[in-house]
Amino acid sequence: MLTIFDTIKNIAIKIDHEIKNEDLGYCDSSNSSGEDQLKLDVKSDYIIEEAFKDISLVKALVSEEKEGVMELHDDGKYTICYDPLDGSSLADVNLSVGSIFGIYEGELKAENLVASAYVVYGPRIELVLATKGSKPKHYRAKEGLFSFICEITLDEKGKLNAPGGTQQNWDKEHKTFVDGLFAEGYRLRYSGGMVPDLHQILLKGGGIFSYPGTSDKPQGKLRQLFEVIPFAFIYEQAGGQAINDKGMRLMELVPSHPHDTSPCFFGSNYEIEALRSAYGIKI
Ligand code: AHG
Ligand code: MN
Ligand code: MN
Repeated sequence: MLTIFDTIKNIAIKIDHEIKNEDLGYCDSSNSSGEDQLKLDVKSDYIIEEAFKDISLVKALVSEEKEGVMELHDDGKYTICYDPLDGSSLADVNLSVGSIFGIYEGELKAENLVASAYVVYGPRIELVLATKGSKPKHYRAKEGLFSFICEITLDEKGKLNAPGGTQQNWDKEHKTFVDGLFAEGYRLRYSGGMVPDLHQILLKGGGIFSYPGTSDKPQGKLRQLFEVIPFAFIYEQAGGQAINDKGMRLMELVPSHPHDTSPCFFGSNYEIEALRSAYGIKI
């Protein structure tokens, strides 16, 4: 696993360089979710593919930017599912963006996730690595080298509320839930970039990030294998919870297609319990 984490550190430095120097325009292509691709999306995807293709541990790759599974080494152990540049449309307004990695052993389903990682490309390059049985570890880069900062623990209750999705397409009970938190004094913290939005809640001790099913996207927008499950793992390892709109742990998801999405809620225990009661979900 160390080889994979070291490779992710090298990838992070390279992608950060591209973000700061590459053309911010669009290609004339789109990805498997039908989203327009930025040159940065494609370049970041290329950097990651190049970095993993010669590592014999890696059996296959699944990318947000490509259809299907890219087989690498038959006797490899892990399949790495990744979002090369999350929130990429924010790069041209100079907001933070990220990369997300889910490392799976065997069939591509949540219970087979063995580790996850994400990188935040912001004023500094930051990295969080998570493996089973330990708290997520937070690192920061300086002159291309990452140093360990701390282990991440979520408080029982936080102050931040990150409500995703187009509000006019929320259903009634979700709107009541979100407004209820603001009435309790929660602060709105939503940039439209999943990685910095979830990173902020983790580092500030807690709160909730929600991307529900909406009338235009009943199954939500965020992809299970390389956005939802990697963060669900990190939030649970940090002492929080990660569920869908039925109250099911996101760590029990079994996607039927590599680009399947899921409604998703990540947060501290108090906020997730509040969501459960707002949604009438029995424990
Ligand atoms: P990506 O850029 O990889 O497609 O991901 C963007 C996602 C995620 O970063 C964010 O939480 C979500 O899009 C924001 O969606 P809305 O603009 O609908 O809130
Ligand atoms: Mn994404
Ligand atoms: Mn992306």
